Amino acid sequence: MKITYLGQNCLWIETEEYKIMVDPFISGNPINHNIKVNDFYPDYIILTHAHQDHVADVETVATLGNSKIISNFEIVSYYDKKGFQGHGMNTGGSFEFPFGKLTCVVAHHSSVFVDGTYGGNPNGYILQADGKKVYIAGDTALTYDMRLIPEMSGKLDLAVLPVGDNFTMGVETACVAADFVKCDRILGCHYDTFPPIEIDHEAAIEHFRKNGKDLLLLDIGESLEV
Ligand code: NI
Ligand code: MN
Repeated sequence: MKITYLGQNCLWIETEEYKIMVDPFISGNPINHNIKVNDFYPDYIILTHAHQDHVADVETVATLGNSKIISNFEIVSYYDKKGFQGHGMNTGGSFEFPFGKLTCVVAHHSSVFVDGTYGGNPNGYILQADGKKVYIAGDTALTYDMRLIPEMSGKLDLAVLPVGDNFTMGVETACVAADFVKCDRILGCHYDTFPPIEIDHEAAIEHFRKNGKDLLLLDIGESLEV
């Protein structure tokens, strides 16, 4: 599986057969100068919660890709009313999709659309596809529930964790989260997009390194193989 970082919590995931976008936020990202929202045609869109820095480009991308939107029940209902196809889930549930198995896990955060519509409970996801397991934390605090993830889902190949602080975990708490989920390969996200979440990259990487972990901070548009 190939994952391309598109800024904030937006990921472009290519499995052997399917293309998935997580949390489309491309056109309004103030630090994205290269990636164009019109270049993506995902089969599926996975949404962690309804905040604008996660859903701003959902309608554009879902129209281009004729994509199925996977999220909590409330978010899927919101887009259903606008004519988009979706698959509603909720915390604790798993489902076998054509691309693989997705498990909805706890995220401690909030979730509301920009128009004030309630966005249900925020979630993280465990994606199992092509024989690999990836934890996508979404916007979340450090939570003890993260310890359940390796217990229930087994060894992770990658954890995508927010590291920008202020709205989510910061570098130190994300490093503890990496311990909780027993994963040494971390893709950092949700940093640098806005002034309150700017981080010192070298200090962040060094903090993880001292704790025996590899923190990857990709440029927008850069990819890794899982
Ligand atoms: Ni948020
Ligand atoms: Mn956010």
